[in-house]
Amino acid sequence: MIIAIDGPAAAGKGTLAQSLAKHFNYAFLDTGRLYRAVGYAVLQAKEDPCDENAATRQARTLDPQNINKILSNPALREEETGKAASKVAAIPSVRAALLDLQRNFAQNPYLENGQPAHGAVLDGRDIGTVVCPKADVKFFVTASDEVRANRRYKELIEAGKTTDYATVLKDIQERDKRDSQRAAAPLRPADDAFILDTSSLNALQVFQSALDYIALNHE
Ligand code: CDP
Repeated sequence: MIIAIDGPAAAGKGTLAQSLAKHFNYAFLDTGRLYRAVGYAVLQAKEDPCDENAATRQARTLDPQNINKILSNPALREEETGKAASKVAAIPSVRAALLDLQRNFAQNPYLENGQPAHGAVLDGRDIGTVVCPKADVKFFVTASDEVRANRRYKELIEAGKTTDYATVLKDIQERDKRDSQRAAAPLRPADDAFILDTSSLNALQVFQSALDYIALNHE
């Protein structure tokens, strides 16, 4: 069983993906972290995230054996890393370098304790369209720009960061624009995705809607 969850920045994909993975005891992969890890490595090497050669080299050197450790780096959550991630993510050779890892995870999912799982939940931008076009269930999670910016702003403040709402809104809109307008695997709902607008729903209501959809269509 493969559950694909796509959508723009701060729409609540990660929260839904983790709740579903926990509920069904499926493995979970936040694919955004892969792009963030590449963006971060490029920044660390003092190179430009838009530089195709630099970004591709970093994407190709991500060690699949060591992936859990790489993806658990707290620096990947920084807004600067998110921005760099969306720049490297527009480069087709970077996307190609990360494809097998994501597909392998979907086909042979394993839990955090290393045990094999009966299903996988992957969240990102192109899971239902490119990475797992045959996923059993596809969600496209979205919300208004203002609601998403407000959520991200609160997350950042709670994490002790100094920022302001206007900057967060601008950053999210720029990132969404880059993600939707790129030629390689742009952000868009798969034709068979269930669209979940979370603008006026809390995390529990989103989870409940997703469970209802799965129960009606896939059980
Ligand atoms: O959590 P948030 O929504 O802020 O972003 P993320 O999921 O961590 O993804 C960071 C960036 O990676 C996105 O802005 C996309 O450019 C890119 N990404 C992608 O292109 N394809 C994916 N499957 C996942 C992320």
